[in-house]
Amino acid sequence: MYKSIIRPILFKFDPEDVHHFTFSVLKNFGFLTQLFFPKPIVDKRLEREVFGLKFKNPVGLAAGFDKNAVLFNELGDLGFGFVEIGTVTPKAQVGNPKKRLFRLIEDGGIINRMGFNNDGLQAAIEKLKGNKGKIIIGGNIGKNTDTSPENYTQDYLDCFEGLHPHVDYFVLNVSCPNVGSHAKLQDVEYLRELITEVKKINQSKSVQKPILLKIAPDLNNAQLDEIVELIAETKIDGVIVSNTSVNREGLKTSPEVLQQIGNGGLSGKPIRERSTKMIRYLSDKSNRAFPIIGVGGIHSAKDAIEKLDAGATLVQLYTGFIYEGPELINEINKELLTRAGRLPR
Ligand SMILES: Cc1cc2nc3c(=O)[nH]c(=O)nc-3n(C[C@H](O)[C@H](O)[C@H](O)COP(=O)(O)O)c2cc1C
Repeated sequence: MYKSIIRPILFKFDPEDVHHFTFSVLKNFGFLTQLFFPKPIVDKRLEREVFGLKFKNPVGLAAGFDKNAVLFNELGDLGFGFVEIGTVTPKAQVGNPKKRLFRLIEDGGIINRMGFNNDGLQAAIEKLKGNKGKIIIGGNIGKNTDTSPENYTQDYLDCFEGLHPHVDYFVLNVSCPNVGSHAKLQDVEYLRELITEVKKINQSKSVQKPILLKIAPDLNNAQLDEIVELIAETKIDGVIVSNTSVNREGLKTSPEVLQQIGNGGLSGKPIRERSTKMIRYLSDKSNRAFPIIGVGGIHSAKDAIEKLDAGATLVQLYTGFIYEGPELINEINKELLTRAGRLPR
């Protein structure tokens, strides 16, 4: 239904307009989705317990889709096992100038340089206050673009403090290629400082929330080794692998078109293999010491299984959700059920 009827219509329009349009359709007519899409699969064998949280199934929605926490219930109704909101920054910001979102149809990919457009921390808190706890919510947090380097940590701390009562786990997003100065955010010395400060706040609370780090698919093995050490040392709860890529190798889209598009993070099928390799590397190197959420180029059940077999415990979708539609969630869960008992849990 989605691929044969809905997608051909949606893909005729500007991607960002389509995003806002689908958003308001889901928000206002979410109940109609049951007429168009199969009922989400609910089955005990799909449940996963990871970093102390119970997920109803291992397929989540990646950050960037529900930036302002307005649609998590409706997205949960579509069948996702968890929804990651954000990236939330302390102050609202408009993001980069438009046009900033591009489909690479031949490659099954997207390039975006949205630049953390979001309504800010306070707006997210207001929306999350209405949370009935129907679905696990991750809070993906970042810094404002105009924040000076000496204040980066404070931005994360403000978001952490503000969202703490309202989300189930946190993600420190240090890997967005679209917000400037992300070199500092990927420096392991800086990450150690950031994680230490965030953990201090976490430990001061009566209930601690799991903290994950989201990394780029452009890190080399030496950098991944540093990440393994960092996690062992700081004992944070896990890693999300991966964010979008600045690499443009091997694309079918012509160099002229890529040049017209310009900077931004590449997602979807072109980053699938790289992200899976990173998951396998981190999992092997660390002896499965921490949970990994696998994300990047999952467009089929086979792609999701590939990530789980490589060492991921949960998976997330973004670009695959846009290309394949909500049916992809059931497709993955159905395949997991046929393999139930054979998969590492
Ligand atoms: C339009 C768009 C916006 C995104 N915004 C964010 C964001 O705000 N924060 C974040 O951590 N990741 C963001 N991402 C990255 C995704 O969460 C995901 O890590 C990445 O796209 C790889 O998964 P995919 O290949 O399934 O899309 C964004 C991705 C896209 C396509």
